[in-house]
Amino acid sequence: MTVVKNICCIGAGYVGGPTCAVLAYKCPDIKVTIVDLSEARIAAWNSSHLPIYEPGLDEVVFECRGKNLFFSTDVDAAIQEADLIFVSVNTPTKKTGMGAGMAADLAYVESATRRIAQVAQSSKIVVEKSTVPCRTAQSMRTILDANSTPEIHFDILSNPEFLAEGTAIKDLLNPDRVLIGALQTESGIEAQNALVDVYTHWVPKDRVITTNLWSSELSKLAANAMLAQRISSINALSAICEATGADVDEVAFACGKDTRLGSKFLKASVGFGGSCFQKDILNLVYLSRQLNLPEVADYWQQVVTMNEYQKSRFVRHIISTLFNTITNKKIAVLGFAFKKDTGDTRESAAITLIKDFMQENARVAVYDPKVEAEQIYMDLAEPDVEKKVTICASAYEAAEGADAVVIVTEWDEFRDDQLDYTKIYAGMNKPAFLFDGRLLVDAAKLRKIGFKVSVIGKNELAGTA
Ligand code: NAD
Ligand code: UDX
Repeated sequence: MTVVKNICCIGAGYVGGPTCAVLAYKCPDIKVTIVDLSEARIAAWNSSHLPIYEPGLDEVVFECRGKNLFFSTDVDAAIQEADLIFVSVNTPTKKTGMGAGMAADLAYVESATRRIAQVAQSSKIVVEKSTVPCRTAQSMRTILDANSTPEIHFDILSNPEFLAEGTAIKDLLNPDRVLIGALQTESGIEAQNALVDVYTHWVPKDRVITTNLWSSELSKLAANAMLAQRISSINALSAICEATGADVDEVAFACGKDTRLGSKFLKASVGFGGSCFQKDILNLVYLSRQLNLPEVADYWQQVVTMNEYQKSRFVRHIISTLFNTITNKKIAVLGFAFKKDTGDTRESAAITLIKDFMQENARVAVYDPKVEAEQIYMDLAEPDVEKKVTICASAYEAAEGADAVVIVTEWDEFRDDQLDYTKIYAGMNKPAFLFDGRLLVDAAKLRKIGFKVSVIGKNELAGTA
């Protein structure tokens, strides 16, 4: 029976960092070393200002760091020391070459795998933690097998991560399930059991699912595609609501009460963002096309198409409500992160919206409680962006002199019981417009103050102007 005593995680990002920090927290008998090529990232993990904002993360890291949790740039040493290695590197959508704009870029996974093959001096369990197309473990195995010797053997497992940002620590401490796929060989099953034993330090055994390698890889893409599909479905219905007088919150509530549907992931919005949904669906679309399944590819593609439509529909409504021009008007954007409780901005709807506002020559003022100004400017990457977009220290500052406030991220501090909307209204140009892309505020309450309010999925979206 293999007992894991020493774990290395390659990739100290949003997944590798929190996942292995929780693992160290729950398994004091295991030494965990998280490595990365980025010196700046590792330095931040070793400092008092961690590189990621995630509720509860500081407590977990500060509790174990220096005891059984270490952050290092010495990738080779950590590989050599480990019995089990998580590969948790980025797998972004390819920007150029074959499959550009669709396929996952597997260069980082391959390079980490080759590094393991080159420097390992003893047998290892290599765990695919990154989200990858179905059958990637086969390529990893080919690379590792080509470098194995009678003394050094590699087993490969798939253990996709299901945490969501903003709730990562909660999700990791109490996961709905942990999925571990392995080749159904004697040694594959032994490796699988070794990783099951690590997780069962804190996860009830009946929540640790074991499958074959390919089911595990595909289940990750499938879960993200189905979650995103629910959001695109409710967003498609939000357009019907606006045109008919149905209320999208009421429709979601009524549908969600059906236990076959459930209530989660039915919140209409300005469109889903984040580093995973779009990337993983496009990955699934590409895989389907490669497998010569065009109808399947088209089906999943529509989830992304609907998401783009939702964003552009919202922008069009804002412009038409503001009398068909936003040239020189000041638009206050509340929120830049792709969801609340994270500083992550990858694929945030705010980026698309603000770029569109800039195209229309609006003046944009942005406030987000957790995203740094530098990050916002990097994401917008337009010439003269600093002249067109101002980053503010509060929602009040952003809204001062604005023609419209646009709620893009559902931060609690933007709720109408937390933000003083009377004060916001007093500082704005009149008529003062408010566009709620997150169904966050009580429109009736704000209308009483004097705002002209539009909310996604509510009939007034069409009717206020
Ligand atoms: P990330 O970009 O935050 O982190 C990846 C890290 O890997 C980077 O710091 C990078 O420097 C490092 N890296 C790349 N190649 C390396 C190498 N050869 N050696 C050492 N370090 C290397 O990415 P992330 O958000 O943590 O995502 C990682 C994987 O997990 C992706 O496949 C993603 O799809 C998947 N995933 C992400 C989430 C999420 O919420 N972010 C959730 C589930 C799954
Ligand atoms: C997602 C998956 O949920 C997670 O399991 C996977 O491991 C990584 O991808 P994440 O992207 O971090 O997690 O956050 P999630 O909560 O799924 O939200 C994604 C986007 O959808 C956000 O922009 C969010 O605001 C939006 N969303 C979510 C909605 O618009 N409506 C909803 O009902 C739920």
